[in-house]
Amino acid sequence: NMEVPFYGSGGQAGVETPPQRYIHFMTFDLTTVNPRDLQVLLARWSAAIAQMAKGETIGQVEPAREHGIGFDTGEALDLGPASLTVTVGLGPEVFSERLGLAAMKPQFLRELEHLPSDAFLPQFTGGDLSLQACADDPQVAYHAIRDLARIAKDTGAASTRWTVMGFGRASAGRNQATPRNLLGYKDGTRNIAEPEDFDRFVWTRDDPVWGGMGSYQVARKIKMHIENWDVDRVSDQNNVFGRFKVSGAPLTGTDEFDTPDFGKTDAEGNHVIPRTSHISLAAHENNDGIKILRRSYNYTEGINEVGLLSAGLLFISYQNDPAHFERLQQRLGAADRLNEYISHIGSAIFFVPPAPEEGHYIGQQMFG
Ligand code: HEM
Repeated sequence: NMEVPFYGSGGQAGVETPPQRYIHFMTFDLTTVNPRDLQVLLARWSAAIAQMAKGETIGQVEPAREHGIGFDTGEALDLGPASLTVTVGLGPEVFSERLGLAAMKPQFLRELEHLPSDAFLPQFTGGDLSLQACADDPQVAYHAIRDLARIAKDTGAASTRWTVMGFGRASAGRNQATPRNLLGYKDGTRNIAEPEDFDRFVWTRDDPVWGGMGSYQVARKIKMHIENWDVDRVSDQNNVFGRFKVSGAPLTGTDEFDTPDFGKTDAEGNHVIPRTSHISLAAHENNDGIKILRRSYNYTEGINEVGLLSAGLLFISYQNDPAHFERLQQRLGAADRLNEYISHIGSAIFFVPPAPEEGHYIGQQMFG
């Protein structure tokens, strides 16, 4: 039952932090045009997150005052910190003219461009603020979002927009065994893991306003067509990803961590790892060296209105320029054989400001 510190001098927790087992992700709409309301919200959120990350309540559960309403809802009592991190993101609308914060806009923050295979449902799209709560206990993650949504309502600054609860992290951090996504494949084998790569591809450093370690967070709700996938031959599934299902090895290797050989051809001259496979299209070798940090989770919502399993991947990536995500999704959206089995139904983008130092709060730089 570990504790991940909230305050610090680097990037916010929940980015470089090895992925915990559960996530509760939620986006919010601003319900105010007064920057003071947003300031109060970010200050109260930060203080509450710092408490919860220590496994403490954010206020009285049983108020001393007779007939008082509890400040903390109480369901995480006795569960400990459970590695809780809550990562706060600011959407493009925060920096629009109406709040008067336009001068603080992070260099590359903007709506994502329209990409091939976007099939968004408005109810899973956008948001002006995001909270990514990850923990090794689902109830700890739930409690964090619940009590932070309560604070949002209380300040009158923001209201809930869309949410996904996920499990079984579908990405690996440093020294973690690679978990599997709901299509049965190991996910996260070639993810960003080295500190140099975090510096090069994840953290912003030269943003004129924010200076320190920020990052752009892209969230995509990707539905999987599970029933179709489950009747596809496994040999074909291996060609979809370019990897073997059980071992996770590239089709040109035998071990999970063998480097894929994208140029290798068979006797007929066909690429052993098909050009239209997911890894061939996404690999840095075939994208001018670009890498992104994937920090995704599986989700399920039971069954849909016609009885099909409703499940997929809450894809979350971090990069120091949203154009890097766009570049990869441009290629995947156009040609990836995986597209037959998935639909991107939700999307949002946020800037994750640097972690606050003790006694400060997230985004404090914006308010002068
Ligand atoms: C690799 C699954 C969506 C980017 C992989 C791998 C799997 C996988 C199984 C191979 C193991 C690994 O190296 O991690 C999925 C599934 C998706 C999905 C099931 C959707 C439901 C995306 C999206 C992007 C992306 C939207 C980015 C736009 C990558 C990258 C790699 C990768 C960069 C590493 C390729 C390499 O260097 O070999 N994915 N992925 N994936 N995926 Fe995805």
